[in-house]
Amino acid sequence: MGHSAAVWDYRAANEVTTDWSGNPQVVLRSPQGASAKISLHGGQVMSWKNEQGEELLFTSSKAIFKPPKAMRGGIPICFPQFGNRGSLEQHGFARNKVWTIEENPPPLPPNDSNGKSFVDLILKPSSEDLKGWPHSFEYRLRVALGTDGRLSLISRIRNVNGKPFTFSFAYHTYIEVRIEGLETLDYFDNLFQRERCTEQGDALTFESEVDRVYLSCPNAIAVIDHGKKRTFVIRKEGLPDVVVWNPWDKKSKAMLDFGDEEYKQMLCVDGAVVENPITLKPGEEWMGRLELLVVPSSFCSDHLDLHRAYF
Ligand code: BG6
Repeated sequence: MGHSAAVWDYRAANEVTTDWSGNPQVVLRSPQGASAKISLHGGQVMSWKNEQGEELLFTSSKAIFKPPKAMRGGIPICFPQFGNRGSLEQHGFARNKVWTIEENPPPLPPNDSNGKSFVDLILKPSSEDLKGWPHSFEYRLRVALGTDGRLSLISRIRNVNGKPFTFSFAYHTYIEVRIEGLETLDYFDNLFQRERCTEQGDALTFESEVDRVYLSCPNAIAVIDHGKKRTFVIRKEGLPDVVVWNPWDKKSKAMLDFGDEEYKQMLCVDGAVVENPITLKPGEEWMGRLELLVVPSSFCSDHLDLHRAYF
């Protein structure tokens, strides 16, 4: 197989494998050797590796790869709610449902396909889902891997209901430890009944449990892994808020599917819609994009302009 993006049918190159619990998963590969695995259970990205084969997303060693819960790690999708308000289950049901592959979704701009390896998934509510959340929707998810290994997730949620509905959302992305780009912003502290606070430092570091929703954030955030001298660049569109979560020691011990010491290795940084949920009228569609790439930290501080527009 050559490197000619113009003639390579990337979708035909995707493998569909089965993980050890029996869930189908799609493997995307870039010509240079980066890869991503997407489970049809939850439409969850389970793994994202660079060209050297190093894993870039956190997965707990105690993760449970069995329905009906989402696996602890990767990128679970929180829809139709982020959090645990009302009668819906925590972070909504989408992460616990089996999605299907959609062969011919409505087209996206050419840049979302050209030179990329990608898969399109779709979730529609079952009659059981409609009892808990009585709104018909079509949720289309494209996960794409660029030739340089960058990972993008594009969600399109359409109201196919007779009435408007409202939702909140997050790509619950499990990665690593020091964050820049959120300083001086307001946030809701989930640990204090969503009290509104203002970040004071020039970068966010922490030494205890963090569970915050940063409000109206810039569209690019850097997460610096000092140990490995690499920086995760998170770019987003349609996702004004950023959730930052680390369970720290006590909560880690209380979670069955999380190692006692693993809070030292991970951080969730989610592109999200929390403060002002989205309302879709009948026939309307919302789109939320997330793009992740990893660059050497030296490259990041010298060349990366976090404040320019990306999409
Ligand atoms: C965070 C929430 O985003 O997700 C936390 O703010 C929660 O309160 C965490 O504990 C993990 O949620 P879950 O349902 O995947 O265990």
